[in-house]
Amino acid sequence: MSSPRPTTTNAGIPVASDDHSLTAGSNGPVLLQDHYLIEKNAQFNRERVPERVVHAKGGGAFGTFEVTDDVSQYTKAAVFQPGTKTETLLRFSTVAGELGSPDTWRDPRGFALKFYTTEGNYDLVGNNTPVFFIRDAIKFPDFIHSQKRRADNHLRDNDMQWDFWSLTPESAHQVTWLMGDRGIPKTWRHMNGYGSHTYLWTNAAGEKFWVKYHFKTDQGHDYLTQDEADRMAGADSNYHLRDLWNSIKGGDFPSWTVYVQVMPFEDAATYRFNPFDLTKVWPHGDYPLLKVGKLTLNRNPENYFAQIEQASFEPANLVPGIGTSPDKMLQGRLFSYPDAHRYRIGPNYMDLPVNRPISEVNSYSKDGQMRYSYTQDPVYAPNSKGGAHADAVRNGEDDVATGVEQEVLRTAYSLHSEDDDFGQPGEMVRNVFSDEERQRFINNVAGHLSDGVTKPVLDRALEYWRNVDKDTGDKIAEKVQQG
Ligand code: HEM
Repeated sequence: MSSPRPTTTNAGIPVASDDHSLTAGSNGPVLLQDHYLIEKNAQFNRERVPERVVHAKGGGAFGTFEVTDDVSQYTKAAVFQPGTKTETLLRFSTVAGELGSPDTWRDPRGFALKFYTTEGNYDLVGNNTPVFFIRDAIKFPDFIHSQKRRADNHLRDNDMQWDFWSLTPESAHQVTWLMGDRGIPKTWRHMNGYGSHTYLWTNAAGEKFWVKYHFKTDQGHDYLTQDEADRMAGADSNYHLRDLWNSIKGGDFPSWTVYVQVMPFEDAATYRFNPFDLTKVWPHGDYPLLKVGKLTLNRNPENYFAQIEQASFEPANLVPGIGTSPDKMLQGRLFSYPDAHRYRIGPNYMDLPVNRPISEVNSYSKDGQMRYSYTQDPVYAPNSKGGAHADAVRNGEDDVATGVEQEVLRTAYSLHSEDDDFGQPGEMVRNVFSDEERQRFINNVAGHLSDGVTKPVLDRALEYWRNVDKDTGDKIAEKVQQG
């Protein structure tokens, strides 16, 4: 049957057959001159890029962010000016599982957002939790190793997870989130997103503020119990991916209302705990939520590999009016992501359509593997040939470096009066969880601890929970002993 669209080689040349290789006689050996056969198989062998070292399993969609409220007194960033609409890409993910792992494993969820702003790409690479397991990037590879697979049998292992957690008391707040209902959202649509770190905002007058971002789901929170999630892992391991795709395809566009907490710049030095510590939230009583706008997802990708698998988010993509903070985790992440992209996608990952900014690119980087865009002459700075000039006004504008005049040390954050590891998770267990939520939390922790966790790790883990809350810790211990 003739087709209006003949198969071609990658060079566009019509091919003779997709069924039969070229052979010497009908039973003879295959000929090297069958270029198409070789191209087809060689190309197939190179279909995979390395999966993300963390957050490998995920899905995403495009959308629009619209500013509904006026926060221009805090930031001059174009993306946050009243009435501005910006195209976005949001990728959801689990952390520890590989590309084919079930969506419903208990894990934090990634909430990685790219704003294609008129001033360049702004990436806010967050999670569905406002805190994290550690407060120094030097621990990140160890933490992730404890969550992934053992060296000997290549199995995940609760014993090593609790070994790490119980030796790292700063993890208690995030583990409390993880073992509660938020540890298995019903779908990606039914969870919040958080920037988690503290960032710097600068307004048009040059005044600086500390901010934290909150994306509150308009679909309402919902979760799966451990049993439901375990069953779903077998029945449909792509449950969350499918749900997002189908809901957007059916015109049911999920949305999130976006808020920030704003801390006056000077408060940071004297606040009761270190406001840059990623294991802490800022109580809303101290810094209330201010509404900024709405994020709506309304467009599925046309090609998963090109637009989601190759999407490259990086916390260092900060636009004028937005800067970093002295959070030791954020500082580490500024390095990690572009480094990962150069390895995983290649040095010109920014040239791919999904990663390219909508604004003009005038960088002096050039060439390299798979370069697609043309660098213009002159190819060096400074030059007297009309090339781009760095903007001197931006010098230091979005940067702060508190503490750099001091001696060089390897140490914990210097102490504020209420810095501790167990206060906020204790508060959460006692006063934020309902009785039913607390009971499910106790069951989840006890179930996890009863699955392969051995002494002395087990004793240390029970002590960890007694430090969070004595009564809850005792109840977990009782349940573990009952088996
Ligand atoms: C992905 C490193 C902490 C959220 C990744 C990737 C790396 C990484 C190397 C893979 C990037 C890629 O190949 O595309 C780190 C380091 C951290 C850290 C070194 C701590 C020092 C965090 C925190 C959050 C977070 C605190 C959330 C608040 C994410 C998300 C992704 C990711 C959402 C997936 C991005 C995507 O969808 O492509 N991280 N991470 N990470 N990380 Fe982190």
